[in-house]
Amino acid sequence: MEFFIDTADLEQIKQASSWGILDGVTTNPTLVSKEGLRGAKAIEQRYVDICNSVTGAVSAEVLSTAFSDMVAEGEKLASLHEQIVVKVPMTADGIKAIAYFNSKGIRTNCTLVFSVGQALIAAKAGATYVSPFLGRLDDIATDGLNLISEIRLIYDNYRFRTKILAASIRSTMHIINCAKVGADVITGPLSAMQGLLKHPLTDSGLEKFLLDARKLTP
Ligand code: G3P
Repeated sequence: MEFFIDTADLEQIKQASSWGILDGVTTNPTLVSKEGLRGAKAIEQRYVDICNSVTGAVSAEVLSTAFSDMVAEGEKLASLHEQIVVKVPMTADGIKAIAYFNSKGIRTNCTLVFSVGQALIAAKAGATYVSPFLGRLDDIATDGLNLISEIRLIYDNYRFRTKILAASIRSTMHIINCAKVGADVITGPLSAMQGLLKHPLTDSGLEKFLLDARKLTP
């Protein structure tokens, strides 16, 4: 399973990367807007800085919605750095753009996926990643994890190579549950990944070991 961090915050990206377990980064317009960046140049520079801080895929989202504009924008984003994956919304124009990018060898992440039908068509178009939004489905009392299981079944049935990138991860349990149902990638906040480290028996066990270790010195 690959771990991506879902942020445009360079410090958090560097912190997660320093653990040696980070496989990539996803961003979206909301996350980029939180960074206080203004103008295309500043945003593009942030994408380049992110790419230079990690070794894996970095999703950068197109802001346009019409096919030809998405193509121009996506080609510009992809030219910024070889690690860039063009993030494209799940719309008819978006699917057309994904098929176009696929034909040009440009990697894509189909975002805002909330149904198996959407995931199926994204794979047909040749998306590199599909992003079902687990947390946002849970928010409306819908079983987000079941969606990921169903996408897994369909992709396995037809050996689609599109990777399931479980997005809108909000908690450590989300990560564990995604691992159980076979998501290829999770993207979430650093706090959810940090939760994987924790167990009270580890803390108390280490405390005891350290106390006993003191008895070993003469
Ligand atoms: O990047 C897409 C997704 O991860 C957004 O998550 O928490 O805003 O639903 P969230």
